[in-house]
Amino acid sequence: MDFYEVINKRRVVRDFEDKIVPDEVLARIINAGLKAPTHDHLRNWEFVVIKDKKDKENALQFVKQGIEPTLDILKQTLVNGTLQQKMYAIAMPRQYSMLFNSSHLILPFFKSNSGVMHPASVSSLNPFASIWCVIENIFLAATAENLACSMRIPVGEEGLNVAKAIGAPENYLLPCYIGLGYPAKDKPSVEQIEYTAEQKIHWGKWQQ
Ligand SMILES: Cc1cc2nc3c(=O)[nH]c(=O)nc-3n(C[C@H](O)[C@H](O)[C@H](O)COP(=O)(O)O)c2cc1C
Repeated sequence: MDFYEVINKRRVVRDFEDKIVPDEVLARIINAGLKAPTHDHLRNWEFVVIKDKKDKENALQFVKQGIEPTLDILKQTLVNGTLQQKMYAIAMPRQYSMLFNSSHLILPFFKSNSGVMHPASVSSLNPFASIWCVIENIFLAATAENLACSMRIPVGEEGLNVAKAIGAPENYLLPCYIGLGYPAKDKPSVEQIEYTAEQKIHWGKWQQ
């Protein structure tokens, strides 16, 4: 698939077909993640990949309790737009199913330091920024394989609880859960707010 076709096709998907992705495809996608830029040259990233239903239940046991605080955040962010509201209306009821019903549940981890949780400047967040480069590579590689990903951000203590439940070392943090699978054909389409470069580029100086 052409690079720009991949970029334009990539969507967060929350409904999957009941079909297993071959492990060698998963490996290609994780390898694409590992090609991401890295702030310290070390690529201190690890991936817990779960296919078994019981193991998924264990990893996802904290999702439901994280949804209430998410709804509170939503009430504060729903300021200006029905498109955003429509997206949340589709996304919120699927926070568990979009991960449980995936072929492979991927839990990416990055090695943290004290700066990440108490940043003194933007650069203190470099380990966090790097893992998000990894995550985007994973999404794009999945798209190139005609697959798709769901994604959820753990809220409050959720991420720490998941990390403990699956036995991750204490200095590794979970930025999000990723569900990988074949997108369902009858999934609801989520309308996007679209911008063009012309609307967003400020040549020379920031034009108000
Ligand atoms: C930092 C970040 C956090 C997100 N958190 C969630 C989440 O917790 N649950 C969810 O269903 N989608 C989540 N999303 C996905 C967004 O809802 C989605 O990317 C957005 O609606 C745009 O749609 P698109 O990715 O299909 O273009 C998140 C995306 C980002 C970048």
